[in-house]
Amino acid sequence: MTGRVAGKVALVTGAASGIGRGCAELLAAEGAKVALTDIQDDKGREVAAAIGANAIYIPHDVTSEDAWIAVVEQVRAAFGRLDILVNNAGIGIGGPVTEFSLADWRRQQAINVEGVFLGVKHSLPLMRQGGGGSIINVSSIAGLTGAANMTAYCATKGAVRLFTKAAAMECATARDGVRVNSIHPGIIETPIWDTISSTVADGGNAGPQRTMNLDDMTAVATPLGHKGWPVDIAQGVLFLASDESRYMTGAELVIDGGMTAR
Ligand SMILES: NC(=O)c1ccc[n+]([C@@H]2O[C@H](COP(=O)([O-])OP(=O)(O)OC[C@H]3O[C@@H](n4cnc5c(N)ncnc54)[C@H](O)[C@@H]3O)[C@@H](O)[C@H]2O)c1
Repeated sequence: MTGRVAGKVALVTGAASGIGRGCAELLAAEGAKVALTDIQDDKGREVAAAIGANAIYIPHDVTSEDAWIAVVEQVRAAFGRLDILVNNAGIGIGGPVTEFSLADWRRQQAINVEGVFLGVKHSLPLMRQGGGGSIINVSSIAGLTGAANMTAYCATKGAVRLFTKAAAMECATARDGVRVNSIHPGIIETPIWDTISSTVADGGNAGPQRTMNLDDMTAVATPLGHKGWPVDIAQGVLFLASDESRYMTGAELVIDGGMTAR
């Protein structure tokens, strides 16, 4: 199948790397015009250039409300509409709850939760003007089950899960044609695992490089016996973005190799 999102315009946050990059590439390959945003500007520009004429890159810190307003305005100026929002930007900071710094808690909340709230708040008007759309919020299996030393991250991803359902109800009630769903990746090979490690330094997220071996972790923890790749999540995002999922809203799509099924 090709052209599954042909004619649609997508905005993907955190698109310079990992899952966001995979989503931007697949949405563009299936016919969407894509605005990629991130704080890693050089990488973001490279990814957008590699995708080609249907992609633009916009510098964007998802914690800034002013930046969200400007980004949506640039999407409107460039493409005239917005059909798909992938709220993907996120960080992972681990550590024992008794040693976790308030600064790290707040920073993670600001990016993982407030960024998603601001994205929905400022994208909805443009989507509604176009008659509807699909919002996909990237949560995690950490938004479904608890994990030791991941209290702060789990709190953010649980928040994204229920924020999504409430936003879905609000849009459905408004009959605005906007669907809102969450996606829950398991263990996916991306650079986020270089920074998910114990840190107690105020505002720090620079623990030792890659303290966990994903192949070893997933061999045991994942029924399918291996880790996933960004494209595995992008395929789910593509489905939620396309009209194939037109009767889905407020749902949670779990793509985790079976981790949370047992
Ligand atoms: N990789 C996994 O195993 C996994 C599992 C479950 C959920 N997730 C979620 O998937 C999403 C993408 O993560 P990833 O694994 O691709 O990691 P990644 O580190 O490769 O990508 C995250 C991107 O977000 C960007 N970002 C960080 N802070 C930002 C900010 N303030 N404003 C804008 N962009 C910002 C980063 O620059 C980076 O490009 C995250 O929300 C993460 O929590 C990942």
